[in-house]
Amino acid sequence: MLLLIPSNELNLNSTYTIERYPASSNRSLKAWSAADEYVWSHFNENSSDSSSVTILNDRFGYFAVHCAPYSPTVYTHYKSQEHSIRQNANVNAISLDKVKTIDLFQHPSKPVDFILMRVPKSMDLFRLFMIKAHQNAHPNSKVFCGFMTRNFTPQMLSIVSEYFDHVEQSLAKKKARVLTLSEPKAEVDHTFPFHTIEFTNSNDIRTIYKQYYGVFSAKHIDYATQFLLQYVTIDNSVHTILDLASGNGVIAHQLRLQHEQAEIHLMDDALLAIESSKLNLGEGNHHFHYANNLDSMEDDYFDLIVSNPPFHFEHENTIEIALQLFEGVKRILKSDGKFILVANLHLNYKTHLKKIFHTVEVLAINDKFEVICCS
Ligand SMILES: C[S@@+](CC[C@H](N)C(=O)[O-])C[C@H]1O[C@@H](n2cnc3c(N)ncnc32)[C@H](O)[C@@H]1O
Repeated sequence: MLLLIPSNELNLNSTYTIERYPASSNRSLKAWSAADEYVWSHFNENSSDSSSVTILNDRFGYFAVHCAPYSPTVYTHYKSQEHSIRQNANVNAISLDKVKTIDLFQHPSKPVDFILMRVPKSMDLFRLFMIKAHQNAHPNSKVFCGFMTRNFTPQMLSIVSEYFDHVEQSLAKKKARVLTLSEPKAEVDHTFPFHTIEFTNSNDIRTIYKQYYGVFSAKHIDYATQFLLQYVTIDNSVHTILDLASGNGVIAHQLRLQHEQAEIHLMDDALLAIESSKLNLGEGNHHFHYANNLDSMEDDYFDLIVSNPPFHFEHENTIEIALQLFEGVKRILKSDGKFILVANLHLNYKTHLKKIFHTVEVLAINDKFEVICCS
């Protein structure tokens, strides 16, 4: 838990607490950065009490909490982010009416004076945020985009210049910078673009997958996933399947090709991932869960759970989230069910899995990945 003293005039005497959700035991992982602070100070220097605000890519709610007096609109694109913003509003006794969250696919009701965001790691995702920023901007709006200087890439500048005519870069402060964008361009397409990925499986069946910008592994089906798919074969004794951390839904779709009747569930924390998997699976006996944990799923339900679990979050690497998901897997897996996952060798998941499951077997291994079966 960390205390912040906001410089906002409207809250001169108050302090805010911003926590990570889910909480992390790794003390080096923070709930905000100097880039967020720098964006906030730009906003303070430019805004008045009557300013209107939209917020993008606010992972844990730093901007949402600080801007609450302005009743901001906060775009969310992760389920965990929604929880985090709600939690931090509660912790700071801010009414949820003050921080209206809407998802990235929703349209703004009217343009705003200021748009605040942290630049994401993925430049594809940054482009989607630029589309939203542009959609929310009027001719006199200002957009503040904060980033740590070590994460700068020239692509940031080329992307923003497609949407705004005027771009200023701040000096560095505490190793952070802010891009200030103004003068939105006249003709801009607000449709979300997507990538197409061709994949041929070991039975020579070729599929073209679609995924929105910002979804995991945009250029090809992830090599770990390709390795996993070689070792997951199912027959008609398997009725209920979960693709955990499903991304664009490739694993679920490949299992659907093997088994037309199975009830297949897909679950992912990222909205863009879930929406992409809907494009790839279409109608059928499958169920999409936009969620960041397995709490809403029934005990002893699944015959098979398959996963390429997450361990990258923006610029952070952590297996804590995966380990929390594995605890949930134990509860929702039938007693004779199987959990098959793929992992980078260096993550050493086996040691952790052995504490949760009775049997942990390595089904396949190469120089980078292993496929592990738990029951
Ligand atoms: C390694 S990718 C695998 C994606 C897909 N299964 C594939 O093979 O291409 C991991 C996925 O985990 C998702 N993720 C991250 N945190 C999550 C959580 N708490 N619950 C569910 N999914 C999560 C990410 O959005 C990402 O799509």
